[in-house]
Amino acid sequence: MESVWINNINFRRRESLNKNIECDVIIIGAGIAGLLTGYMLNKSGRDVVIIEARSICSGITKNTTAKITSQHDIIYNKLIKEFGEGKARQYAKANELAIQRYREIIDEEKIECNFEGKDAYVYTLNKIEELEDEYEAVKKLGIDAEMLSEVNLPIEVKAALKFKDQAQFNPLKFLKPISEKLTIYENTTAKDIKDNLVITENGEIKANHIVVTTHYPFLNTPGYYFMRMHQERSYVLALENAQDVGGMYIGNNQGTYSFRNYENLLLFGGVSQRAGENEEGLAYEKLREAAKKYYPNSVERYHWSAQDCITLDNIPYIGHYSSKMPNVYVATGFNKWGMTSSMVSAMIISDMILGNKNDFSEIFSPKRFDLSASMKNAANDIVKTVKNFIAQRINIPEEHLGNIENGHGGIIEYKGEKVGVYKDNDGKVHTVYTKCAHLGCEVHWNADELTWDCPCHGSRYDYEGKWIEGPTTKCLNKM
Ligand SMILES: Cc1cc2nc3c(=O)[nH]c(=O)nc-3n(C[C@H](O)[C@H](O)[C@H](O)COP(=O)(O)OP(=O)(O)OC[C@H]3O[C@@H](n4cnc5c(N)ncnc54)[C@H](O)[C@@H]3O)c2cc1C
Ligand code: FES
Repeated sequence: MESVWINNINFRRRESLNKNIECDVIIIGAGIAGLLTGYMLNKSGRDVVIIEARSICSGITKNTTAKITSQHDIIYNKLIKEFGEGKARQYAKANELAIQRYREIIDEEKIECNFEGKDAYVYTLNKIEELEDEYEAVKKLGIDAEMLSEVNLPIEVKAALKFKDQAQFNPLKFLKPISEKLTIYENTTAKDIKDNLVITENGEIKANHIVVTTHYPFLNTPGYYFMRMHQERSYVLALENAQDVGGMYIGNNQGTYSFRNYENLLLFGGVSQRAGENEEGLAYEKLREAAKKYYPNSVERYHWSAQDCITLDNIPYIGHYSSKMPNVYVATGFNKWGMTSSMVSAMIISDMILGNKNDFSEIFSPKRFDLSASMKNAANDIVKTVKNFIAQRINIPEEHLGNIENGHGGIIEYKGEKVGVYKDNDGKVHTVYTKCAHLGCEVHWNADELTWDCPCHGSRYDYEGKWIEGPTTKCLNKM
């Protein structure tokens, strides 16, 4: 099902690229990060072109919950400890400035996008000390915050930390007018970058600057982003007849939920898991059970899911793609906080291209890869990745196609090859080879979305093996 944002929003359709062109800045990917970067550079008079593999905002941005906040779960205490107060302050300042930039752009462009000032809350069911330490950290950084023992939710929280004057909006209503003034080619996939050329299926783009805003970077080397990020998927229900919670909430414990309202609906999210780990397909059911418990009279109007890139130290990668490619920039790893992070990316990358000084870019620089600070996460990630590479070589017990019922999918072994099988509701069988087109991990069935998802770095394919999202841009091999 589509998200609530897609309802009644139609972006103007654009043609695909079918010739060689030249421009000053080429941006790859028309999600919120690409569009905001394009908007800022365009305003500064630069000749900008954006290419998009599918259609404008067809990636994660259409499935967000669109809270605009500098409260990113619990992060500031950790930032001060690992990077020092100066860099933690850069992170806070950048994100607070991002909220302000939204207000300015919306005023300047007179955009109707349900933008509302709201307080943001992170709540805990038990870890009060962690929240208290975070409170002390944010006070040091000058963030306007408050500790509470009660909140306007139907769950018993032990404590909550409130950030004042944050915001929420409808992201697609905001981005539609932003996209209008930009030159965008849809159905145009970047396949490679060679020096100052971006190579697509039907044309090359020569540019002085190349910005990669494809959500997960599509080039494996240089940069090695696949070594530094995994993806996590979360699920959302839009409920009518639920509650006006009066703010934006996120839980700090496993199994807690996210809350915000949009018009007459409550957006109720949760059940996060690493991409590729929903073979049973119970994610929506778990969320529905919780919704029923807290809001027995509510009615579900929409449901959707999305995944975001999680970095080793929970800080996005914004800046030069790699020291080997000085004219290429990247914005990725938003850790489910892409509304402010994409505005921060747009500010940093446009300043870099325009030659302006930027006071907060250092903390986000992809050059950092401080293994000492992030060793534990790196180790966890690599163990998971290796486990999934190995899975490709293990002999699984042979199952019969007949065991897969209509409407279900799974992996069988056939003539020594792993084969992904989906039997649709009419009993038609769709088969794919299960070796991910990115780096060869074994894809897993996602029974909620009827897709093949890769647990290593999150590439996704539909049940026929067609590419949905990256890092790869290729399809699964069909049988
Ligand atoms: C369930 C959920 C809830 C969230 N809620 C919030 C929230 O409340 N607040 C918040 O701040 N953040 C939130 N986030 C995070 C936020 O939504 C994302 O970080 C953000 O939307 C990512 O934007 P993007 O532009 O980087 O990616 P996308 O929107 O995915 O855009 C990337 C675009 O690049 C295109 N592309 C990919 N490869 C190529 C290629 N090779 N050539 C050309 N085009 C290509 C894709 O088709 C896509 O359109 C949430 C995330 C999830 C998963
Ligand atoms: S996404 Fe990297 S191997 Fe599948």
